[in-house]
Amino acid sequence: MNETIRTILERASIRGFTATPLTQDERDLLVRAALATPSGMDAQPWHFTFVADQTTIAAVSEAALDTFRRAGNQTVLDRMAARHPSLFYGAAVVVFISLAPGASSIEAGIAAQNLALAARSLGLGSCIIGLAGAAFSGPDGPALSERLDFPEGYVFGISVAIGHPAVDKAPHASDPAKVTWIG
Ligand SMILES: Cc1cc2nc3c(=O)[nH]c(=O)nc-3n(C[C@H](O)[C@H](O)[C@H](O)COP(=O)(O)O)c2cc1C
Repeated sequence: MNETIRTILERASIRGFTATPLTQDERDLLVRAALATPSGMDAQPWHFTFVADQTTIAAVSEAALDTFRRAGNQTVLDRMAARHPSLFYGAAVVVFISLAPGASSIEAGIAAQNLALAARSLGLGSCIIGLAGAAFSGPDGPALSERLDFPEGYVFGISVAIGHPAVDKAPHASDPAKVTWIG
């Protein structure tokens, strides 16, 4: 099968990683894949913050979990507790995509998928992490945005956890009923 199609069909969300760091080559290719993302009118309304520093990754995870605790959102807390102590599942690198004022979250979504597919094609695992947004709506939000070098006025769009997979997961089931083909 065509290699790109296979990468798309075989990608799945990985929720457990080894401690093996990414090589410089892997880091460089992920950066290139992120920057290759298309955007409306080529506005490139984003900033990519690649974080391999585990203390910083843990700080974002804790801030997000804190928001859920303060909101009494036991459903999310229970789901996360059953999965991993960290929102980012022990990933070697987390990419935070922040968006310029007024930018569409579609732009962040396309970048996230570029990263997820690039990771898969490099033999790495990934998981898109939307729950991390809770970190930026809590009291630590402004300090975290600054720590992650979000440009002035940019807001969290989405994040992607990437690393060497410690678990395996099959792709989700496709539902042909969700397709209409005319002509
Ligand atoms: C916008 C978006 C946000 C997501 N946020 C999370 C998240 O916070 N935590 C998580 O474990 N998975 C998250 N996921 C992964 C989805 O749960 C996953 O894509 C879905 O269950 C389908 O499984 P698959 O990716 O293995 O095909 C997110 C996916 C998307 C597209």
